[in-house]
Amino acid sequence: MTEIVTLSDPASVAAEAARRWVDIAQQSVEARGSFSVALSGGGTPSLLYRLLADEPWKSQISWDKTFVFWGDERRVPSTHVDSNYRMAREALLEHVELPHENIFRMPSDGLATGDSQSYAKTIRSHFKLNYEEWPHFDLILLGLGTDGHTASIFPGTRAVSDLSNMVLVYPVPKLNTERITFTLPVLNHARNILYLVTGEEKALILAEVIDGERRPSKYPAQAVNPVDGKLVWLVDAAASANLKAR
Ligand code: 6PG
Repeated sequence: MTEIVTLSDPASVAAEAARRWVDIAQQSVEARGSFSVALSGGGTPSLLYRLLADEPWKSQISWDKTFVFWGDERRVPSTHVDSNYRMAREALLEHVELPHENIFRMPSDGLATGDSQSYAKTIRSHFKLNYEEWPHFDLILLGLGTDGHTASIFPGTRAVSDLSNMVLVYPVPKLNTERITFTLPVLNHARNILYLVTGEEKALILAEVIDGERRPSKYPAQAVNPVDGKLVWLVDAAASANLKAR
């Protein structure tokens, strides 16, 4: 099931995302005793992370039962300004009582194929999976690049067609570097996917992804369709300017 929620501005998108995070987290803890979330990177989610690090949201979350993963990472040290881990650490993780052992940072220094296998092993171990099973994250946050990429699944790359690995390390030609990323099957087995898309620079790509011809190799975000989970797009007025009326 896909839902598109349009809010006035980035702050409202972040507040709605915080409300939904709390809701999903409370339901997950009630149902299974824990809440597993995969964070997205880039710039958009930092507003959300800062909200969660403060009241009224902070005290509504059982941080000791929260397990934090990342959906993708850049090939930089965890201290680098471009690190998705560093952004989340500074905006959220340093400000909440999250046990260190509940934080599963993606390998990022150097990045080799073995790193994808080791992170997949971490996921299997946490979710107690055998080799045929996919993890069911309670929540995966995603953003949308202006080229239609999501996580680090970039257009026209092997990441779009990899339906067997959980995690992939691969060279992204347009970036001239490697990325590590969840693959589409991991995204699509999540219980909840929350896209956060804001700003006028995303208006064209959002309309292509949502209303345009289905071309997932060109627009990988179009291949995000949960098997039996819920997909919600939280978008602001600027990003939704080109969407068809609904
Ligand atoms: C990354 C992200 C990526 C991001 C989009 C949108 O590592 O860059 O995971 O998928 O969500 O590029 O980024 P912005 O939110 O900065 O526009």
